[in-house]
Amino acid sequence: MSSVSGKRIVLGVSGGISAYKAIEVCRRLVDAGAHVVPIMTDSAQKFVGANTFSALASEPVHASLFDDWQGPIPHTRLGQEADLIVVCPATARVIGSYAAGISDDLLTNTLIATRAPVVVCPAMHTEMWEHPAVEANMATLAARGVHIVAPEEGRLAGGDIGKGRLAAPSTVVASVQEVLDPHTVDMRGLSVMVTAGGTRESLDPVRFIGNRSTGKQGYAFAEVAARAGADVELITTVDRPDPSGVRVTRVVTAAQMHEACLASADSVDIVVMAAAVADFRPTGASEVKIKKGDGVPTIELERTVDILADLGSRKRRGQQLVGFAAETNDLIANGERKLAKKNADFIVANDVSAPNTGFAHDTNAVTILAPGGVRASLALASKFEIARAVLRTVVAARTPSE
Ligand code: CTP
Repeated sequence: MSSVSGKRIVLGVSGGISAYKAIEVCRRLVDAGAHVVPIMTDSAQKFVGANTFSALASEPVHASLFDDWQGPIPHTRLGQEADLIVVCPATARVIGSYAAGISDDLLTNTLIATRAPVVVCPAMHTEMWEHPAVEANMATLAARGVHIVAPEEGRLAGGDIGKGRLAAPSTVVASVQEVLDPHTVDMRGLSVMVTAGGTRESLDPVRFIGNRSTGKQGYAFAEVAARAGADVELITTVDRPDPSGVRVTRVVTAAQMHEACLASADSVDIVVMAAAVADFRPTGASEVKIKKGDGVPTIELERTVDILADLGSRKRRGQQLVGFAAETNDLIANGERKLAKKNADFIVANDVSAPNTGFAHDTNAVTILAPGGVRASLALASKFEIARAVLRTVVAARTPSE
C-alpha cells in the first residue's frame, strides 16, 4: 500500500505558469489513495481554474481566509488536520512569506498553522531562483526541516532556458511518499561507525592546527542511523550533545581518531568518514609554549595517516566505506579520484565554496559517487535529510548476503 493512502494532503498551489503541473500532482495523489485538499492563491487562479482542482481533488478548492465554503477560520483547521502540506509550485513570494513567518493569504496562514511536514516545490525564473534573498529563504526553510523538491533545468516561461523549472509531477509525488514513509531507511541489524568534526594537531600546549568542521553532518549521520535501528558508534572531536542511543568516543588528533577507528573497523558493516581529518601535523609539538621573543618559528609538518585509505586497504567483504570529498573545484573529478585511491564504496562530494553548503551550515548539497559514476545529486537540504538519503543509497547497494 502506498504511504500516501488514507493521508490528508493539503496541496497548496501558488501563481506560476507551472501551476498546470499541479493538476497532474493532484490526480496522482488522489489515485494513490490520498485525500487531497486544494488551496489556491489568487494568482494561481489566474493560471488555472479553481474548478479543475475542485473536480479532481477530494474536496472543493479553498481560496479565502474569510469566506471559505466550510466556514470560518479555515487556516487553523486545514493546518491542524493535514498529514502533510505540499506547495506546488511555490513562488518566490510564498517561499519568502513562509520563511519570514508572514501570513498574508490562506496558503501562508495554513503553512504557519501546521505542525505537519511540509514539502516545497519551487518554480521560478533562473534570476529569481539565484537571487540571494531566495537562496537565503530556501536555506532557512531547509534548516527548519522543510523538504525541498529542487527545481530542474529546462524551458521556462517566455521560452528562456535555465534552472527553475518545477520538478516533474512524478518527482513531486515520490518526494511526498518518501516524507510520509517512516521506514525509508531500515538499518536494523547493521552496525555503523561514524566519524565527525575536525581534528586538532598541537603546535604547543596552547595552539593547534585545525579546520572549520563543526561536526554537524557527522552527528546527523549518527542520529539518523540510530533512529533507523542501527548499532552506532560515533568517533568525534567536537563537544556537541550525544545523539540518543549512540556510543560516543571522543578524540582530538588524527592519530587518536585512527586508533579509535581501527579498534572498531573490523566489526562494523558501514563506515561513514564524515570527519575533516588533518592531512599534516607539526613534527614534534613543543612541550612548552612557543614564545614570540624567540623569533618567528619555522613549523615543520609531517603527513598523518589517511584513515579512510587505511580502512579501504583492510576492508572486509561486505563492509561499505563512505568517504567525503570537500572540494572547491572539479567536484566530480576529484571525488572520483578519491573513490578509487581510497578504495571507498561511496564518496559524498560537496562544494564547500557554494552558498549554504559545507562547514558550519545546517544545510548541505552533495553528489554521491560510486564506482561507475554519479549515483545521486542531492539539492540543498538539511544535513539530516542528506544523511538519510546517503544512508538509503548505501543500504540499497548492500547485497542480500551482506
Ligand atoms: N580522510 C581521512 N584521513 C585523512 C584525510 C582525510 O580519513 N588523513 C578522509 C576524510 O574523512 C574524508 C575523505 O578522506 O572522508 C576525503 O577527505 P578530503 O580532505 O576531502 O581529501 P584528502 O584526502 O585530504 O585529499 P585532498 O588533499 O587532495 O583534497
